[in-house]
Amino acid sequence: MKNIIVTGGLGFIGSHTVVELVQQGYHPIIVDNLSNSNLSVLHNIEKITGKIPAFYRVDVNDRTELDALFEKTSPDAVIHFAAYKAVGESVSDPLKYYHNNVGGLISLLQVMKKHQCHQLVFSSSCTVYGQPHHLPVAEDAPVAIPFSPYGNTKKIGEEILMDTTDIQTVSLRYFNPIGAHPSGLIGELPIGVPGNLVPFITQTAAGIREQLTINGNDYQTPDGTCIRDYLHVCDLAEAHLLALHRFGRSDFSEGKGHVEVFNLGTGRGNSVKEVVDTFEKVSGLTLNHVYGVRRPGDIEQVWADPSKAMSILGWKTKRNLEEMLASAWQWQMNLRQSNA
Ligand code: UD1
Repeated sequence: MKNIIVTGGLGFIGSHTVVELVQQGYHPIIVDNLSNSNLSVLHNIEKITGKIPAFYRVDVNDRTELDALFEKTSPDAVIHFAAYKAVGESVSDPLKYYHNNVGGLISLLQVMKKHQCHQLVFSSSCTVYGQPHHLPVAEDAPVAIPFSPYGNTKKIGEEILMDTTDIQTVSLRYFNPIGAHPSGLIGELPIGVPGNLVPFITQTAAGIREQLTINGNDYQTPDGTCIRDYLHVCDLAEAHLLALHRFGRSDFSEGKGHVEVFNLGTGRGNSVKEVVDTFEKVSGLTLNHVYGVRRPGDIEQVWADPSKAMSILGWKTKRNLEEMLASAWQWQMNLRQSNA
């Protein structure tokens, strides 16, 4: 049984990965400052897995506490999710993003080195590609000038890891994770008005928001709306387990380096309109929506070439858009019941 520190382990992707870790016999140690998550997630992880994972309310920027935690738990590896991810907020409050996403990573790496913990799975993002020239985009595509401070924190994070040669890193570039666990017990819990598409859709359907505004229908795409590669959060969680299997392998980075980078997406793009239509189909509801202006900083279209993750990690998505949206809707309905 391996001890794996999971920073941000009560968040959206973190909680699904913790479930997977427990179910595969690992010993996850959750480190979360609860800034964008809720302690109830811990109890729901217990309901799903039958085990209550170790949890420490620690901020990754607090090096003293992190140090004590490493001393106490002797982790074999770290999966680092703890970061802010609201693109718009990162524009209005960039230092908050650099402090948490970049400062937190540096603090974590310093403590890892001190405790001889040399294996890290890093949450990166397709945002590092900007608007790619070729689609689907592969890992060797150039990294673009970031569209937002949030995007820049992911780019800088990858650069820091490239320079930190004594830590083996698997950097996972997520495309657009959506959906929720089939139990309906864990999912995305946005605080305030959701910035991302699917929580906005489900909250609109639940009557929490009045209507969805589709940000622009004048893009050079078949229906005029932006295209993204949406993937199920459970598929994404599974990739983290496969990433852990990479450490110590003789073919790691083809023996050439200490960082491996993988795209995690389905390889298919769907437009915002297709997401709305599919949601209406699986929920049986009509979603109140209007077309609005383009959102500043949005990329027109991006989807992954996930073939490297397939050939090296043995990872492939299994769940389709209908399952993603049905599970997100189930989660939203459960939330409404538990708040009623
Ligand atoms: C962005 C980031 C991504 C990050 C993710 C997490 C970029 C380029 N992408 O993804 O790296 O992981 O946020 O927060 O920085 N939309 C609407 N109406 C809404 C909400 C969204 O039409 O109310 C549209 C958007 O304009 C976009 C699509 O839905 O075309 C997806 O948006 P969103 O879910 O916010 O994700 P990204 O912007 O793709």
